[in-house]
Amino acid sequence: MINNKLPLNFIWGSGSSAYQVEGAYERDGKGLSVWDTFSHIPGNTFRGTNGDIAVDHYHRYKEDVSLMAELGLKAYCFSISWPRVFPEGSGAVNEQGAAFYEALIDECIKYKIEPIVTLYHWDLPQALQTAYGGWEDRRCIDAYLEYAKYLFTRFKGKVKYWITINGQNFITSQGWLTALHPPGKLNEEQLFFQVNHHMYIAHAKAVQALKKIDGQAQIGASFSYTPSYAFDCAPENAMAKMNYDELHNFLWTDVYIYGRYPKFVLKYLEKRQVVLDIAPGDQAILLDAAQKVDFMGINYYSTRVCEENPIEQEKKMYRERETGDIKARPMSCYYKNAKNPYLEVTDWDSSIDASGLRLACREITSRYQLPILITENGLGTFDYLENGEVHDTYRIEYLRSHIKELMLAIDEGCDIIGYCVWSFTDMLSWLNGYQKRYGLVYVDRADQSELTLQRYKKDSFYWYKKVIASNGDVI
Ligand code: BG6
Repeated sequence: MINNKLPLNFIWGSGSSAYQVEGAYERDGKGLSVWDTFSHIPGNTFRGTNGDIAVDHYHRYKEDVSLMAELGLKAYCFSISWPRVFPEGSGAVNEQGAAFYEALIDECIKYKIEPIVTLYHWDLPQALQTAYGGWEDRRCIDAYLEYAKYLFTRFKGKVKYWITINGQNFITSQGWLTALHPPGKLNEEQLFFQVNHHMYIAHAKAVQALKKIDGQAQIGASFSYTPSYAFDCAPENAMAKMNYDELHNFLWTDVYIYGRYPKFVLKYLEKRQVVLDIAPGDQAILLDAAQKVDFMGINYYSTRVCEENPIEQEKKMYRERETGDIKARPMSCYYKNAKNPYLEVTDWDSSIDASGLRLACREITSRYQLPILITENGLGTFDYLENGEVHDTYRIEYLRSHIKELMLAIDEGCDIIGYCVWSFTDMLSWLNGYQKRYGLVYVDRADQSELTLQRYKKDSFYWYKKVIASNGDVI
């Protein structure tokens, strides 16, 4: 019997991101994003899938929000498409785009669903990429800040929770190391760190700006936190785990919450001859914003196993841009990842580890003592629609086990303010098309065709509804 100590105001939510659900990629004055461009280049995405139409949330948001209300959601965590609001990235506002988000926010509020709004979930305006290489240039920080301030001002009093950047660690690794996301650069370590630095400053300046514009609202980044285990008790494997944690978790979380880079990372940069261009005043901005961050957003999916990598020959897979071939590239000698024999895996070979969520919360709490908002957690699988029903017992089992671990974490002292199931409806998986489904609501569409785009409530929808209604007692 689980000891459910969830607070009465616990935020039960579910989420989406603009590019993955909205569609309408060139409607009503929207500018192109880097994802619109990238996904239109053959070979860049799975079976050429893209978000041109996605699941048409742009036109069906009222239907979707009314389904959220039926489910009893307390919050909807979604992102705003920057080029829908600022088609050129900065300068003129596209009123139709901003009005869409206003209507979406109002629709949520009408049903007492708290909008949790992400400013940046990877769909950078293409105009900024073309003009100066987007995040590679410091000017991108100013454009982001202009965009952020506009939204904070326009939605003041309506939006109480803001997320600055979603999965910065993920998007910068995929964009500048593995070439899987735009701008599709491979092993550009110098740029990878520089882009990250620019994003830290953008995040920090947004935090500072929100506190000036709307003191009542709360803000944090959402981070793809992947905790790790040492392969065994061999001391070198414990050290490999430490290296992994520094380079894959603390590099980001320490900057957000302490306002400084981990010492190990600074040494790492020195050894790799990566010289960061840090402007005077950056340090002060990071430190100041770190004091003002309200919560840590966590996207949690799985854990890693770390092992020593003495000979630098472990290979990491990446997709060749020109040919689309999967190739291997040498990885650093700091660690390598091994399979975890104790865990089952998803259809996409990602380990399923409910207790890893508790571990993540405990680590964050121990290191930073900050409230935690689980911004994403869910299972991507093949689902099958039969007679209008989807019997996704595997998803229920996945979510149940993770929520139970969350309750244990709360019982152990973690201040967890909410939990958002990824995702509300099925949507585009960036690199796995529409066949990889996460939703509580099934959407009738295939990789190559939109089909009817009709919505069907999965068994997990009805299950989550009971969980929310009982505030976690019925699980
Ligand atoms: C998260 C992203 O890190 O991973 C989401 O924020 C994404 O946008 C999710 O959908 C799952 O990733 P994938 O590759 O399984 O679709």
